[in-house]
Amino acid sequence: MAEKKFYIATFGCQMNDRDSEIMHQLLNESDYAATADMENADLVVVNTCSVREKAEQKAYSLLGSLKKLKRRNPDLIVAVTGCVAQQDGENLLKRIPHADLILGPQKIYDLPQLVKTVEKQHAPQTATELNSAFVIPPFLPDVESGSQFKRFVTIMQGCNNFCTYCVVPFTRGREISRAFDDIIGEVSHLASRGIKEVTLLGQNVNSYGLDSKDKCAACASGEKTCRSTTNADFPALLKAVAQIPGIERLRFTSSHPKDLSVRLMKCFAEIDNLCPHFHLPFQSGSDRILKLMNRRYTAADYLEKVRQLREIRPDIVLTTDIIVGFPGETDEDFEATMYLLEEVRYHSAFSFQYSDRPYAKSADFPDKVAPEVKSARLARLQKRQSEITLARNLEYIGQTMPVMVEGQGKADNQWSGRTVTNHIVNFTGGSALQPGQTVEVEIEEGLLHSLRGRLVG
Ligand code: SAH
Ligand code: SF4
Ligand code: F3S
Repeated sequence: MAEKKFYIATFGCQMNDRDSEIMHQLLNESDYAATADMENADLVVVNTCSVREKAEQKAYSLLGSLKKLKRRNPDLIVAVTGCVAQQDGENLLKRIPHADLILGPQKIYDLPQLVKTVEKQHAPQTATELNSAFVIPPFLPDVESGSQFKRFVTIMQGCNNFCTYCVVPFTRGREISRAFDDIIGEVSHLASRGIKEVTLLGQNVNSYGLDSKDKCAACASGEKTCRSTTNADFPALLKAVAQIPGIERLRFTSSHPKDLSVRLMKCFAEIDNLCPHFHLPFQSGSDRILKLMNRRYTAADYLEKVRQLREIRPDIVLTTDIIVGFPGETDEDFEATMYLLEEVRYHSAFSFQYSDRPYAKSADFPDKVAPEVKSARLARLQKRQSEITLARNLEYIGQTMPVMVEGQGKADNQWSGRTVTNHIVNFTGGSALQPGQTVEVEIEEGLLHSLRGRLVG
């Protein structure tokens, strides 16, 4: 019998990307093989995101379109994973009756076994429990497929912050830190197979380890071996990961400003291979809106942290997330956001129109901002940020900087890579460069989304 084929479509954040890699590996280890052709797959996994209304719509639209494939191939298995699966659970079947499997983020490890159950029973299966004693398994990645030089490593799941606009605490549950030794084991495994860059992932990595101070998650779930060997916090984890031989570049995302400690800032001066790039979402520049968002810092607190960070590491590149049109946001509040944008001069920013999310408190807040006001504010903010980003990129002209090669560029004789600050650089001058190799590039041009230069030395 021909091998069965699977296809995974991934939406959302890097945590979802990493979960998709895990599911890919689990399915490869069962009796499925990957295909790039969704139309001919026997199993389609849609790994969904629910963070904004648009993200959810995208997931439902792909799921809706699978109805046609299912009609053509009634044996097709449609699996829904990720945050929409967790959010809607069995209710998802009302909208997508052709779905066979609904799996929450903690349940992805059961995917192969549940696919078998569907194959046998021909009845939809749902697994969406969120257990606060869940232990993130010590799962070693397969380095055969995927990037051969950079990887994501999950260090925690969930979020305890309950920003009033956000669905994540409901879809990913409470913060659970992964065992220190498992993280070191995974990074060592990757490094020994040639991976040079790792990004440590969590919704709020700054609070790594805080949930396991008094309890070991493995012990709590009745496992025989305690795997919480240390009470390491995030700076301690960073230092340990940075020392693993072969790791040339270390990154992390995402961080909550309220938990950004001076100890963590100092890591940027103390750890040579920690990349000088910090993604620090501010969301709004208005203290009144920040309070309504339950962010637990003021614009002044935020600016002071930026000042300290830049004092410790002057070349650090800052990026951020911003929401415009939160319920009750006035013109004056929005001006405060624009002011913060000017003050910090981010290298780039992700900005979004506010949308109501299920379970999120702000869905019930009064004074919703009209859609046309939200879109006008967003357009103004994005236009200004583009000017700042371009001006920032022009500042690199004439500098020579190390670039990690990612592959060939779009034009002939062109290569593409990234700086430690995560800027994309397209450059000429090299032949037979290897992905993962670091070369020196002189920057000759600054564009909105990339830099251009030529190989030197
Ligand atoms: N844990 C991360 C954020 C994850 S969500 C952190 O706190 O940094 C990514 C971004 O989506 C958020 O930073 C926020 O800017 C945006 N976002 C979240 N919920 C939203 C909503 N309801 N409407 C619009 N944007 C939202
Ligand atoms: Fe959502 Fe706030 Fe948690 Fe980020 S910190 S995941 S925005 S609740
Ligand atoms: Fe989206 Fe869930 Fe990530 S809502 S941003 S996939 S944690």
